[in-house]
Amino acid sequence: MSFFRPFRRIKNNRNEDNFFLALDIGTDMVKALVCEAEGSKGKILGVGKQRQKLGDMNGGVVMDIASVISNCHTAIRQAEKMASATPKKMILGISGELVKGATNTTSYIRRDANSKIDLSELKNIVHKIQWRAFDYIRSQLAYETGYNEIDVKLVNAAIVDTRIDGYKVTNPIGFQGKEITLSIFNAFAPLVHFGALQTIAAEIDRELIAIAAEPYALSRCLGYEDTGNFGAIFIDVGAGTTEIAIVKNGSLEGTKMFNLGGRLFTKRLAQTLNISYQEAEEIKTSYSEDKLERQSSKIVRESLQSDCEVWLSGVLLTMEEFENIDVLPSKILLSGGGSLLPEIKETLETREWMKGLPFVKKPQISYLNTKLITNLSDETKTLNSAQDVMPMAIANLALSIIQEENLPSKVLKKVVRLMQI
Ligand SMILES: Nc1ncnc2c1ncn2[C@@H]1O[C@H](COP(=O)(O)OP(=O)(O)OP(=O)(O)O)[C@@H](O)[C@H]1O
Ligand SMILES: [Mg+2]
Repeated sequence: MSFFRPFRRIKNNRNEDNFFLALDIGTDMVKALVCEAEGSKGKILGVGKQRQKLGDMNGGVVMDIASVISNCHTAIRQAEKMASATPKKMILGISGELVKGATNTTSYIRRDANSKIDLSELKNIVHKIQWRAFDYIRSQLAYETGYNEIDVKLVNAAIVDTRIDGYKVTNPIGFQGKEITLSIFNAFAPLVHFGALQTIAAEIDRELIAIAAEPYALSRCLGYEDTGNFGAIFIDVGAGTTEIAIVKNGSLEGTKMFNLGGRLFTKRLAQTLNISYQEAEEIKTSYSEDKLERQSSKIVRESLQSDCEVWLSGVLLTMEEFENIDVLPSKILLSGGGSLLPEIKETLETREWMKGLPFVKKPQISYLNTKLITNLSDETKTLNSAQDVMPMAIANLALSIIQEENLPSKVLKKVVRLMQI
């Protein structure tokens, strides 16, 4: 029979060791992807989504661990059912205002410029630079948040740029030169927040590939590393957070977040129209999709105006906090469900917010299309919304972590492991 599909044989041919789960625990929605890694590329075989209750999370931070775990299980079950697979490994995204990421660039002068750099020298340099960066960022975060330094955990670290005498290399081993410059991105989170995610991960019980800072994952999703001259400002507008990552000349300059997203607008509508949150959510979506009749549309539009300004001032204040960036990239890439509200793009395009910021020209604003994440092919053919970008970016990051071909990254990983104890 021609339609007969030999399910068993297909399943047996799979190597489930290459499968992994990517989990994005968002304020509004838990999103789970089942993926299969094939070298540097991957396939998405299953998708699961579960809406969270209002009190489960706030601004990217877990408020009710048990309820979030149950939502994670539901989303994972859905994704696994679709993929007919149960991955043993998992990567988790972490967001929230208090997840602070910064890139620290440090130069190291070598005693003997003529000798070739070897592994032990590299280890030594990474070690020194990383401890310096760690201390610096940790004390800065402690100052900003009022948390004690010990309450802060290193979430993830990555080498984003390596140069010898100004010359960009991917692996410095074997090169000669006087000065090694490493740019290392570090993300930190308060222990209570990070710990909650670790508890959730332990409960889901898979081998944890990484807990990754979401804007970091986002900044890597386009695979620009090869070109070296890519620049963009990534803005993910979720339900409770807006996450910003700035990439210049192919390296990540830093990440920041603030606690405003789509919920702000839903809450406003619920208030002005005197309806439930759920009803307001439906009206907001219909409005975005241009499904309301004219008069209603006008009312919604007017009631959202002032909150758009509030959100925009969040963007402005956050952008101003990026220090040491002389020129900002003139490309803005939007993602996240919250960015689907037409006012978001419109406000960014029409308001004069960028005047005080170091843009050389007016930034172009567009949506980050899931098809641009070219390392991943979506076999489910369902991932096409702005909301799907983040879970895909997290899955994309897992691919490179699983591979981790890059020697400096391996060295860094060892140093980080020491620091996380
Ligand atoms: N068509 C739409 N128009 C307007 N807003 C939308 C639309 N679709 C989704 N949203 C909003 O997007 C938000 C959810 O987006 P997303 O799934 O990216 O957030 P999240 O990841 O759960 O939250 P966060 O990233 O803040 O933790 C909700 O506030 C929802 O109202
Ligand atoms: Mg999100």
